[in-house]
Amino acid sequence: LNFLVPATRKEILEILINGLKRMEYRGYDSAGLAIEGNTKDSDPQVIKQTGKVAALEQEITVTPNLDMEQEFSVHAGIAHTRWATHGEPSCLNCHPHRSDPKAEFLLVHNGIITNYKDIKNFLAKHGRDCESETDTEVIAKLMKHVYDTTKAKNHSFREIVELTVQQLEGAFAVAVISRHFPGEIVATRRGSPLVVGLKSQSKLTTDHIPVLYSKDQRGLLTAPSPRPDGDDLTEYHAIGPHREVEYFFASDASAIIEHTNKVIFLEDDDVASIKDGSLTIHRIHRNVEDSTIREVITLKMEIQQIMKGNYSSFMQKEIFEQPESVVNTMRGRVNFDNNQVILGGIKDYIHEIRRCRRLLFIACGTSYHSAVATRQLLEEMTELPVMVELASDFLDRSTPIFRDDVCFFISQSGETADTLMALRYCKKRGALIVGITNVVGSSISRDSHCGVHINAGPEIGVASTKAYTSQFISLVMFGLMFCEDRISMQERRREIIQGLKNMPEQINEVLKIDDQIHALAQELYQQKSLLVMGRGYNYATCLEGALKIKELTYMHSEGILAGELKHGPLALVDKAMPVLMMVTRDKVFAKCMNALQQVKARHGRPIIICNKDDDETQKFAYSFLAIPHAVDCLQGILAVIPMQLLSFHIAVLRGYDVDCPRNLAKSVTVE
Ligand code: G6P
Repeated sequence: LNFLVPATRKEILEILINGLKRMEYRGYDSAGLAIEGNTKDSDPQVIKQTGKVAALEQEITVTPNLDMEQEFSVHAGIAHTRWATHGEPSCLNCHPHRSDPKAEFLLVHNGIITNYKDIKNFLAKHGRDCESETDTEVIAKLMKHVYDTTKAKNHSFREIVELTVQQLEGAFAVAVISRHFPGEIVATRRGSPLVVGLKSQSKLTTDHIPVLYSKDQRGLLTAPSPRPDGDDLTEYHAIGPHREVEYFFASDASAIIEHTNKVIFLEDDDVASIKDGSLTIHRIHRNVEDSTIREVITLKMEIQQIMKGNYSSFMQKEIFEQPESVVNTMRGRVNFDNNQVILGGIKDYIHEIRRCRRLLFIACGTSYHSAVATRQLLEEMTELPVMVELASDFLDRSTPIFRDDVCFFISQSGETADTLMALRYCKKRGALIVGITNVVGSSISRDSHCGVHINAGPEIGVASTKAYTSQFISLVMFGLMFCEDRISMQERRREIIQGLKNMPEQINEVLKIDDQIHALAQELYQQKSLLVMGRGYNYATCLEGALKIKELTYMHSEGILAGELKHGPLALVDKAMPVLMMVTRDKVFAKCMNALQQVKARHGRPIIICNKDDDETQKFAYSFLAIPHAVDCLQGILAVIPMQLLSFHIAVLRGYDVDCPRNLAKSVTVE
């Protein structure tokens, strides 16, 4: 950081804590921060606490020797909220990690260092033992080792960080401060996201300030601070005067959006350093294909979008946002008057896509379910084989991929490590890569040849809700666009497009039965287990519904294909087992009724999600939730919402934190 107007320690701590709160959904088992000491020579202050960020905030109030009114015009601070991968959540394992008891180097890290054991052994041989069980600590210790052993060379802070990270394998985004380099911060990434925020009071002359490539043969890239209008860009290889820009680093833009919407997304192996009010971005090696500019991007995200408003949790807000978020997904893309669908991010590639041999949809978690939900429609619209794959399994199998494959990667965050690795695997084999993401500037969106931003708006609740319905609609729109020229398909296209038009209103209708769903939750919340059964288009709804129940309520839940009922799951059914069944009026209705009869015959108590006015089905139900009727391939959008609400209410009744379910994280950037 580098303040425009001097900031007090209290303000600095507020910036760090608020940033952490915005990022809390990414991990929340412990949190910590490091700030500079009172004078250049005094020790940095490191404060850590297990539990959520609020616990760290509390810890600050009881930390001695913090002069809250002390002012800084330049100050470097770092903070971190952890999702444990190596070592239990404890203060010792919590970040920032230090290089030694004097904390000569302090750092925060997102990712996993896969060769940390080798580095640990190396460090131990040099008398540098680690105090934590984490993979992260070795980075700090190695940094000090580099510093101590190369002192004669007078390396800069950036060079020390570069020499260190060259030894690392795995994925990382790190930010480092050092008492040897007060007021400086160095941050770098490989495989984990990292964004730089730039806040300036003098006008940034353009929203897209290129990061300039200097004439330095090693490939030094420098980012200018704001320049006067009309200045010749090429003359600025170094940065403008002090204190014109405040800088922020974060794993994702929501942490800094309240300060600035001007950001640079760093690329793998960029090493960014801030010193004397200047930002430089340097690359360790220069490859021919590396781009030599880093654009300053203006984000459209609004701070209100990442606030809870009147809702009790982000998840609840996001469920109720769906009538608007689906509109945002379709905005400017679906023309309801002439039945046209144009996805701007794909249109230049559509001919190439139409020529392919097969389509693959690869994702994890909820995003994977959106592909399962639309698979049948995509097969119908494209008349191509459609493979739907879980990214981890796809990689485990080393699945054969051909140059004429088209591979879709669906990811809310655009950062899920398994999905990203599968993307790179397919890209290396020459396939066309299509990204379907919600986060602009995310790794998957940047690594794709083309794609769709689902425009659902920031999703903070760890359990995905509105992103699912928007992914669903994005995939439907792709199917519609694919077959726009096929005469035989026009009637069906029209029916679906009209169905899309009705979605926002119908979602609103479903949300109105929230009270009924709450009452059902009161009946169910003490159960141990919940089965969710259906088939056809609603099979995905069952998988997604069961996932929501598991994630939020910690109850056992299984999404069961009704066609498989006789092949095992029927054994689970007795009068004590609650069974949720999706029975809507589509092609598999009769088969679903069959399954319903079988459940009844075993004295099961079916709770049915069915269409409004379907008295016949409702008669067989122990209880039911009625939703509006939609065209078959869109019914899953309406049917999943009661499941989202049900898991939300059960979780609240069981006293759980719905936004931050135990052991989970929103964005799983580790393998
Ligand atoms: C995590 C989240 C899930 C999400 C999955 C895939 O497991 O907790 O909610 O569905 O990752 O995330 P992505 O960002 O790739 O959609």
